[in-house]
Amino acid sequence: RTKRQAISAEPSALDPSQLTDVTLTSYCKSKESSDLIQRALMDNDFMKHLEHGQILTIMDCMRPTSLTKGCCVIQEGDDGSTVYVLEEGMVEVTKEGKKLCSIGPGKVFGELAILYNCTRTATVTALTDIKLWAIDRQDFQTIMMRTGLIKYSQYTDFLRSVPSFQSLAEDVLSKLADALEETRYSDGDYIIRQGATGDTFFIISDGQVKVSQQISANDEEAAVKTLSKGDWFGEQALKGEDVRTASVTAVGDVTCLVIDRESFKQLIGGLDDGSDKQHDSDEVKAKRQAEADFFSSVS
Ligand code: CMP
Repeated sequence: RTKRQAISAEPSALDPSQLTDVTLTSYCKSKESSDLIQRALMDNDFMKHLEHGQILTIMDCMRPTSLTKGCCVIQEGDDGSTVYVLEEGMVEVTKEGKKLCSIGPGKVFGELAILYNCTRTATVTALTDIKLWAIDRQDFQTIMMRTGLIKYSQYTDFLRSVPSFQSLAEDVLSKLADALEETRYSDGDYIIRQGATGDTFFIISDGQVKVSQQISANDEEAAVKTLSKGDWFGEQALKGEDVRTASVTAVGDVTCLVIDRESFKQLIGGLDDGSDKQHDSDEVKAKRQAEADFFSSVS
């Protein structure tokens, strides 16, 4: 087994500007293999919180490899350099000679040393001939950091394009971009349920949502309005209201940027109305004024 040169997992040890020079190689795979890898990553306790885009890029960069029965895939105490997803066969995990468990297809292993920059915590041996997908530390870390940087600059650009946020100081905008969490929904998903408690505020970064309200217990929910990219909702929560006053459901695939009440209040110290923008129509000015009044009332 050849040892690859270990690259520190400390994010600060990597110069972000150098990440643009790292070329990620993608490897063709069947739909079955792509699905298996994605499910494995999303099933792993340490990786399931990654963003969808990161999961897809890791999947894309995983290369195929195979080993015969009896081979040692990972040796406890070694410097780790690779994360694996098992596609076919079985492996056994042992620590200090004692069996911990057997692992079958569709599982990730070897993630701990790469995620936590520690030596291998256990030995992994092939119980049968095995087929694996593998990604090396440098690619893995590049994906983690590059995605973070791209996400950050995309959020900042996006927020700058939303009228309600245009008058925010650059440093507040940056902090806001940093604090936002991206969440994705599929058609028909409830993003907010009327009557439920919640303290989160949503900005739509992609797609459309339907806002609907039930006036009394026996009534059907009636559609109130449709919101799209750049619109926001859940704002009552910013004023301290815990109970949602309307339901919001996804119309098709939707991506929202989400922030909770406390983070929002810490970041936003009131917004200007932006009404000095000569080219705005009265309608746009009125909307800006209403938004500015709203944000200054909650902050
Ligand atoms: P890593 O420490 O990088 O290399 C050995 C791998 O064995 C480890 O990551 C985990 O993926 C896996 N492993 C360690 N302990 C256990 C356990 N108790 N159960 C299942 N898998 C484990």
